[in-house]
Amino acid sequence: MDQQLVDVARNALEHAHAPYSRFQVGAAVRADNGRIYGGCNVENASYPEGICAETAAIAAMVLDGGKRILEMAITTKGAETTSPCGGCRQRIREFAGPDVKIHTLGPEGHRQTYTLGQLLPFAFGPEHL
Ligand code: THU
Repeated sequence: MDQQLVDVARNALEHAHAPYSRFQVGAAVRADNGRIYGGCNVENASYPEGICAETAAIAAMVLDGGKRILEMAITTKGAETTSPCGGCRQRIREFAGPDVKIHTLGPEGHRQTYTLGQLLPFAFGPEHL
């Protein structure tokens, strides 16, 4: 696992805006341009308008010209798993193939590594259009 990827995810976690759930999440993607992009969850008083950390990291990548996700890390502070939500799995799928590794981490360090194919089998992707 890329230590820089973990560092960026942990730094993003510190910026999470999660006053409603108090469930802070930090994510980082390593992109095909060699760069790493972080994102945190940003909640809203109008609850459904909040966005996930993974979504924020993907948006940062796209804004900077990254085209593909090569590896990803997701971290939280608590005991809950950081397995990405269904919507984020689909957003990751837009920029990643089934072999891309997604590392989940807690305060104690590495928890679990999945491939996108494990998290989202039989996925619908851009090639289906
Ligand atoms: N959250 C993420 O940022 N990523 C996930 O993969 C799961 C959930 C956020 C959304 C919300 O701000 C909080 O965690 C609780 O659901």
